[in-house]
Amino acid sequence: MKDSRKLASLLAVGVCAAALYAGTSIADPMPEEQSLAGLEYDLIGRDDLWTYEALPEYHQAPFLDALVESGALPPVEDRLPAEPLVMQAGAMSAGIGEYGGVFRHVIGGRPEGWNILAGQHQGWGGINMATQECLVRQGPRWQVRPEEQTGPLPNLAKSWEWNDDMTELTMHLVEGAKWSDGDPFDTEDIAFWYDDNVQNADINSRISKDAFGGGASLEVIDDYTFKFVFPTAQSNTVVEGLAYIQGCPGPSHVLKDFHPDYNADMNYDDYLNAMPADAVPIPVMGAWVPVEHKPDELVILRRNPYYFKVDSEGNQLPYINEMHFKLTTWDDRTTQAVAGTGDWSNMENPGNFVEALKQSQDENSPVSAKFGPRTLSWRIELNFAQNMTDDPYEQELRGLFRELPFRQALSHAIDRDAVGQALARGPFAYPYIGGFASGSPYYDPAYSVYTPFDQDKAKELLAGLGLEDTDGNGVLNMPGTGEDLVIDMTYKPQRTDDRKQMDAVTSQLAEVGIRVLPKTVDETSFDPMRNAGDFSAILQRANFVLPTRETCGNLPVSDICPPFHLSGPDGRDSLPFEERLTAITSEMSATDDAGKQTELANEMEQLLTENLYNIGLVQVPAALLVNKRVQNAHPGTPVFMYEWAEDAVIRERLWVPADQQMEEILPGTVAVYE
Ligand code: GLA
Repeated sequence: MKDSRKLASLLAVGVCAAALYAGTSIADPMPEEQSLAGLEYDLIGRDDLWTYEALPEYHQAPFLDALVESGALPPVEDRLPAEPLVMQAGAMSAGIGEYGGVFRHVIGGRPEGWNILAGQHQGWGGINMATQECLVRQGPRWQVRPEEQTGPLPNLAKSWEWNDDMTELTMHLVEGAKWSDGDPFDTEDIAFWYDDNVQNADINSRISKDAFGGGASLEVIDDYTFKFVFPTAQSNTVVEGLAYIQGCPGPSHVLKDFHPDYNADMNYDDYLNAMPADAVPIPVMGAWVPVEHKPDELVILRRNPYYFKVDSEGNQLPYINEMHFKLTTWDDRTTQAVAGTGDWSNMENPGNFVEALKQSQDENSPVSAKFGPRTLSWRIELNFAQNMTDDPYEQELRGLFRELPFRQALSHAIDRDAVGQALARGPFAYPYIGGFASGSPYYDPAYSVYTPFDQDKAKELLAGLGLEDTDGNGVLNMPGTGEDLVIDMTYKPQRTDDRKQMDAVTSQLAEVGIRVLPKTVDETSFDPMRNAGDFSAILQRANFVLPTRETCGNLPVSDICPPFHLSGPDGRDSLPFEERLTAITSEMSATDDAGKQTELANEMEQLLTENLYNIGLVQVPAALLVNKRVQNAHPGTPVFMYEWAEDAVIRERLWVPADQQMEEILPGTVAVYE
């Protein structure tokens, strides 16, 4: 059965869209949305994707034969787990692959370092995901039938079970998997990840201390079995938090030596920098190992000969030998995909849409392109932590941010249609009002409170707050300090679309007397700046599609989450609706009932949008561009749904017919560790 329904219907089991929630009626409904989605796909069962089993025989990429013969590598069956993860050929759009060749990525980010346990990223765009594997997996869920959508897919954890009252989650690791240097992967890595990193408040790990399941503790049972014990009942939803980028262990056999708890000569800076960006190779669990990094130029990765996955004929994955990440810009990613010099782009830069689409329609074009639903959105984050600054101006400013009428005024001052047209002419952009992106399985427009463009209302609300242009310079003065209302707004200058929206927002807010001072921070320093709460306001991409993904970036789930409302020494100076947001988030992780989840998601959507927790700007669909010589890139893969497409497409299954393979830069080699 072909199913081109909007993905939103997947979870909408038994939902009535009437806006009757809590007896409210939504004053301004969202304008009608025109979908551009054209993805076609078959829905399949979870086990149709992959299983775990021992196969009668295994095969490896032919060039590895010589390395086994010379004794540099053990035979393939000894490198694989007893029961490897088996990718089923039936779920592959082009079937069992051919070994070899190069996959060329182009990215705008730069590797910060390889210590993923200390929160470092590797430059995004799929390079993080090529090297790390996580306990469970979310990306490929776009293809799973609605009735089997209970929690994430297995990965390093091949199975898990709950006790009767859902307070204990026992997980079973793949047995006998190995790091790319041959070291065993087991619960020593799990305990190091969770106890020595996640639970260590001095380390900025991707799950913050006590945030997972309201503060789970870990018990190791044996080499391959461990248990989380939760303070309150949970559900399979909480397990989603163990997918990329949160539940991904690092090599304890390397990192322990740099960790202050294990080595008194080390401090936390030493630990953070234990695996610097240029020091490769490093041991990974991912399909490819970084073996060369030329800063600002290229990262080369070679196949991981210990990778724990095979296809259903016993061929060890990945099929592709070498992966490149050219280090240029995000716009260049699309340009190169369209030109055929790169193999992949999540075409998420609306400025390129028209031209790229035109070119990809040509039958000789090297790429094909199909739009998915709108899951890319942008927003302004206002810093609400008034008790975290001593500066009187900043205090007054944050005080204003905390006033609902001020946030409403900002929203009324923004002409989202104009912002959208500044990004790209045409039907691409649709207003975003905060809350879930419209392509999210949790989105229902009936619960979105729209605060549309209306300059008069904006001015009226600002006047109501005592903001007046007392010195006639066109900028409102603040009632307390008397100073001009100037908002420093930070953004990533390398992101063309962020910059265009910044320009539009700056001039639109000027029209109601608010001066925006755009401030740039490069992508590598951006997250540390944001996590430290070191900003007044930020304009950036939102990507709020699932409440369980990057929860800390969006919702008040712990003292350091979200970064735009950190807790001060006396706790968080909560806004009235924030406690309910916290409660909804934990109620969602405590239920697997789709109807109940939808109800909670609707309540969340309404709270987020009527309170303008963030000021949404616009949302656009994105198209995935993949070079036509690459096989098994399923045409239904969304750019972003449960996870980015680099995860959702299952790259370890991608392959290129031998006669179309590109020449490898480092043929015949694998990572060599000192
Ligand atoms: C960046 C890119 C996205 C995607 C992700 C993957 O954020 O903008 O398109 O490639 O990295 O992590």
